[in-house]
Formats: sequence, C-alpha cells, structure tokens
Amino acid sequence: MSLAPEILPALIKAVATTIEQNAEEVTALDQVLGDGDHVTNLQRGIDALNKQADEITLLEWPAAIQKIGMTLLSTMGGASGSLFGTLFISMSKAMAGKKELNQQEFAEVFFAGVEAVKKRGKAEAGEKTMLDTLIPVAEKMLDGVSMDNICRVAVEGMESTKEMKATKGRASYLEAKSIGHIDAGARTSQLIICAIVKQIK
Ligand SMILES: Nc1ncnc2c1ncn2[C@@H]1O[C@H](COP(=O)(O)OP(=O)(O)O)[C@@H](O)[C@H]1O
Ligand SMILES: [Mg+2]
Repeated sequence: MSLAPEILPALIKAVATTIEQNAEEVTALDQVLGDGDHVTNLQRGIDALNKQADEITLLEWPAAIQKIGMTLLSTMGGASGSLFGTLFISMSKAMAGKKELNQQEFAEVFFAGVEAVKKRGKAEAGEKTMLDTLIPVAEKMLDGVSMDNICRVAVEGMESTKEMKATKGRASYLEAKSIGHIDAGARTSQLIICAIVKQIK
C-alpha cells in the first residue's frame, strides 16, 4: 500500500460519518439480537481514535495500527471491543518492520487479523457474526479482488447473516428466533469496510 499513515484521520472521519448515518438502523439490529449497545460501543472507540488522530499520523504503519487496536480495546467494551481490538493488534504484528505494504501484503496482513478474531471469538464463518463480513473480504482480497469489488463482497457477507442461526455471542441465546435479522457487527464491519474503500479510492 503506497499510502502513508497521514490518511488515517480522513479514514477515521469517514468511518465516524457512516456509523453516525446508520446508527439508528444498527442499534435496532442489536436491540433485536443483542442488548442494543453496539453503536455506542463503537462510537466510544471512534471518538477516542479521533482524539488521537494527529498523534497516530506521526507513527509508522505497524505502530499506528497497534495504537488503534489498543485504543479500541481499552475504550469500546462489549464483545466487539475485544474483537475489533484483536483485529488491529494482530494486523500490526503481521506487518512488523514494514514501512510500506503493497496490496498483496496488505491482504495477507488483513487475513492474519481476521484469523486472530476467529481465535479470540472461538468462531467460524456461518455463526452470524462480524466474521461473516470479515472472512469473505479477507479471502477475496487474498485472491486479488479489485478495490471496486471489496465493498460488494462485504455487503454480500453482511446480508448472508440474515438467514443464519446465531451460535455465538448474545444472539445465540435466541436460537432459531435469531433467523431473519442481520447481525449488527456484520453490518458495522461492512459499513466500515465500504467507507474505507471509498475514501482510499
Ligand atoms: N464470539 C464472537 N465472534 C465474533 N463476533 C462476535 C462474537 N460475539 C459477538 N460478536 C459480534 O459482536 C457484536 C456485538 O457487539 P456489541 O454489541 O458491541 O457487544 P455485546 O454483544 O457484548 O453487547 C455482534 O453483533 C457480533 O457481530
Ligand atoms: Mg450489544
């Protein structure tokens, strides 16, 4: 990736905007399948990142991504806080020592991050979680999918959660009643991915 960490404040703002614009919808999803706090958890993390944006910009990629992960971990709370935190911290480890990453290297780094989320959440694809957005995106990126198609893959992954029965997280308490609703974390993961891709383009 020939991008410098200077792009991070703009990416954080783009993510903040898309979450704000879709806050009501996502909260409604987490009220059906969970406890309704997913957006507030996420926004707490994004606010903390916004406050650190200038500082993060001065770091090199691995340290910047590490700081993002630590900040999300320490501010968000909820299952999603430890999972999004793990995603970034593990991505940082996978890019150790690198100043720049090309698209293939970034795909490998993202894949490693998603693998760590699977381990942390003890979850796989098909369990109606954020992983149903993250896993197909990571796999298609490794296959070399174009930037234009990444958002579409994320949307398809997010939509696939609707007909799944939840077997992880709070939604799993609902068992078969969880079918018919999109998972909140799958939706925010997709919104974040689409916003980042759009901003980079
Ligand atoms: N074990 C898990 N593996 C992967 N993702 C999970 C897991 N448990 C929950 N999630 C994701 O976290 C989201 C809920 O996040 P949030 O509401 O912030 O936390 P909490 O469930 O603790 O209230 C879910 O919509 C789901 O996508
Ligand atoms: Mg919740």
